[in-house]
Amino acid sequence: MLSPVTPITQEEYDFIRQFVYEKSRINLGPHKKELVMARLSKRLRALNLTTYKEYLTYLKDISHKEEITHLIDAISTNHTFFFRETIHFDFLTSVILPEFVKKAGGGMRTFRVWSAASSTGEEPYSIGIILSDYFLSHPHIQWALEGTDISTTALGAAKEGIFSEEKVKQLSSDIIDRYFKKCSETKEGFYQAKPPLRAKMNYRAQNLLKPPYPFHEPFDVIFCRNVMIYFDRQTQQELVSYLVPHLRSGGYLMIGHAESLAGISHTLKIVKPTIYRKE
Ligand SMILES: C[S@@+](CC[C@H](N)C(=O)[O-])C[C@H]1O[C@@H](n2cnc3c(N)ncnc32)[C@H](O)[C@@H]1O
Repeated sequence: MLSPVTPITQEEYDFIRQFVYEKSRINLGPHKKELVMARLSKRLRALNLTTYKEYLTYLKDISHKEEITHLIDAISTNHTFFFRETIHFDFLTSVILPEFVKKAGGGMRTFRVWSAASSTGEEPYSIGIILSDYFLSHPHIQWALEGTDISTTALGAAKEGIFSEEKVKQLSSDIIDRYFKKCSETKEGFYQAKPPLRAKMNYRAQNLLKPPYPFHEPFDVIFCRNVMIYFDRQTQQELVSYLVPHLRSGGYLMIGHAESLAGISHTLKIVKPTIYRKE
């Protein structure tokens, strides 16, 4: 039988809230106690602990440094789905890619995209499907996609490119046939992205609030969607100032539909709500 976990006290919650903020800048706010308990109780059970007091002692022990990653993993919201916020994918296909191809002329070029909070991979794989399709008729152009996230569990899923049938069924049968294959009996009910698609992507752990970022070449597009929403204004400002130098001039930044750069100082030009361009 599973031992019950004692409810978190206000003091313990405040400690976790501050700790998570310092490590990830995720701002839990004062009213997420229930959510934190719901997400962390599994972790306590996995460690055979029954109180948050014991958990905090464990977390503060430097010989358990890896627990910070588990904590952030448990707290971060990884919710995502294929082709979420279609406006960005339509804009990519109808404006950004034709512009890039025109500028490249007949020359060999690489189109570079960064999915800056790639979560379990649905966003980067959606981008990858669009790029694979589009560049079929422009074979002189290569593409490369970097995916980063703070959650190593989410990144592991993205790297494998394995998705439940329920998620994949959001895609057309044509896309499923061309880009995914059913997993074997050991992983029944799951699909895996085919190797040529996976081969174009590179995933690594990166806390967006802990630059420098490991990239030496600028990106044509940065997708940084539905992550800023967890940060306070000052942190959003910092994040934007870290991201912009990684865009090439003429490159685009996409943010989530519930996010905005209003009130943040930056040098980008707004093209449409949630789409910005570096002039
Ligand atoms: C809601 S998901 C968004 C996924 C995808 N971009 C989308 O729009 O569907 C937010 C992601 O941001 C990641 N995240 C939160 N704080 C982060 C940080 N400081 N640095 C990097 N990633 C972070 C979480 O782990 C999570 O996977």
